[in-house]
Amino acid sequence: MKNFVSRGFPFHRGRRLRSSNNLRNIVSETHLTCNDLVMPYFIREEDDSAAIYVMKDLQRFSISELVRELEQVMKNGIKAIALFPKIGEAKKSENADESFNKNNLVCRCLKLLKKEFPELIVICDVALDAYTTHGHDGVLDSKKNIHNDKTLDILIKMSINFAEAGCKIIAPSDMMDGRVKVIRESLESKNFSDISILSYSSKFCSNFYSPFRDALGSQNNLGSSKKNSYQIDFRNSREALKESIEDIYEGADIVMIKPAGYYLDVIKEVKQNCLIPVAAYQVSGEYSLIKNASDNKIINFKECVLESLYCIKRAGADIIFSYFSSEVAKWIKK
Ligand code: PBG
Repeated sequence: MKNFVSRGFPFHRGRRLRSSNNLRNIVSETHLTCNDLVMPYFIREEDDSAAIYVMKDLQRFSISELVRELEQVMKNGIKAIALFPKIGEAKKSENADESFNKNNLVCRCLKLLKKEFPELIVICDVALDAYTTHGHDGVLDSKKNIHNDKTLDILIKMSINFAEAGCKIIAPSDMMDGRVKVIRESLESKNFSDISILSYSSKFCSNFYSPFRDALGSQNNLGSSKKNSYQIDFRNSREALKESIEDIYEGADIVMIKPAGYYLDVIKEVKQNCLIPVAAYQVSGEYSLIKNASDNKIINFKECVLESLYCIKRAGADIIFSYFSSEVAKWIKK
């Protein structure tokens, strides 16, 4: 603040406005409601296992189980979810063919959810990692490098299938170059001009994704291979801002920073420099840290979850993807 000259103590006493609950509430700068939250769900084929050992209290839902879960969760105020499929190993392939099967797990789930909950916002991840035998987000060339443009062709097919099955927000998450542009163009050309694109525009090559990869069954396939030839180096923030701006030019409606808690500076930077809504993804490793520490009585679960989310909002996120969302909705019910 440029024109602020403090007269100092005792004119200034910061504690005056901190002295009661009501005072603290009326001067609070950041608010959190169910409108800010997206709940990610792992879905599975009927005959696959539900338990996710690395993410306590979460599970993989069959499509029918998800419908029952959502009846409750939506009553508590959740309005948006994100879907992540665990595909059977037998359906995975080098070139991710199952990803553009019009009747794959995600498409079947979308169709049922559209029928059961027409108002629910379902956000679909568009990336190949759930479908490849090597666990990477793109198809490989003969030298085992990720082939950007061949991957784009598949992302287009996936996006159109999802749109046809009822998805309202397409979320490309693989950091391939040009994906937002080609998806936007093909949605427009196929009369899906009302489908939004939420781009994982600043997705860092993070070590905090590993519980998610276990949940999806892609960890073993990926092995010790890294995603650093496409995801952003965590030492860089200007690069992350540039990627967001490029994606906005390409036609993104919402940009996202991921992970969230260790990347608050990036959230703030993107928020200050872009004019579209900014989302942040509190990822599986962030979930697991809070969950395990609180299960072991090292920190308080509810207080730490809320603090983590308020801080992400304070940094500038308009929307937060968090595995705590369905639980938090019970606490804040708004
Ligand atoms: C897939 C994808 C990943 C996550 C969301 N979409 C994993 C990855 O990039 O390896 C991670 C989410 C999480 O850790 O909670 N491209």
